[in-house]
Amino acid sequence: MLPAIGPGRRRSFQRRVLAWYAINGRDLPWRKTRDPYAILVSEVLSHQTQITRVLPVYERLLGRYPSVQALAQAPLADVKAITDPLGYKIRGGWLHAAALRVAEGGGGFPATMEELRRLPGVGRYTAGAVMSFAHHRDAPVLDTNVARLLRRHFGVAVSDRARTRLLWDLAASVIPKGRGYLINQALMDLGAIVCRARAPRCGDCPLRRSCIFRANARQESRRPLPD
Ligand code: ADE
Repeated sequence: MLPAIGPGRRRSFQRRVLAWYAINGRDLPWRKTRDPYAILVSEVLSHQTQITRVLPVYERLLGRYPSVQALAQAPLADVKAITDPLGYKIRGGWLHAAALRVAEGGGGFPATMEELRRLPGVGRYTAGAVMSFAHHRDAPVLDTNVARLLRRHFGVAVSDRARTRLLWDLAASVIPKGRGYLINQALMDLGAIVCRARAPRCGDCPLRRSCIFRANARQESRRPLPD
């Protein structure tokens, strides 16, 4: 069940996340563009991969193929030579196939969730990222880091069978109207930098006072040890 979040609690959550991001947000190259092609490239490259490893590959790929048409015309082997060293080797093929589809379509870059999701390798997450980061629509963007943060903060039970759906609904519900771009970027950074999978840095977290995960962890540590 979706945890009940009243408007006051929601606003407080949004305010603290955005204030944290204004000071701590990362300076990433794909935050300086609204080109949907560049955003798609950044998201496919970032999948399951540390950002520091993605940066040089992103620059190399876009330097060599600055437009979706340029990528469509490239030999697949050349694209893979750039992307394969990142591991998860399917991504070069996905990007190339997506570029071919867009270039052959002749109608410009897809600009709706439905059209984007028809591209090879593009699921709800990547389509949402393109809608949010390129088109500044209030689409939720739930990557592993954001999912962990929301799950912990709002105390979503591991046993909840509808958990994925619930987390997408939560991610949509915390977007302040017209500011999806900012809060999505902010949640991604907060999840990656502070609400880490192992060794979360709760002491540095702007949400620590209202976090259910943290409250439970503190209670655990106060409980007397069993004999
Ligand atoms: N990982 C993938 N996309 C990202 C983004 N826009 N910001 C931070 N981390 C990301």
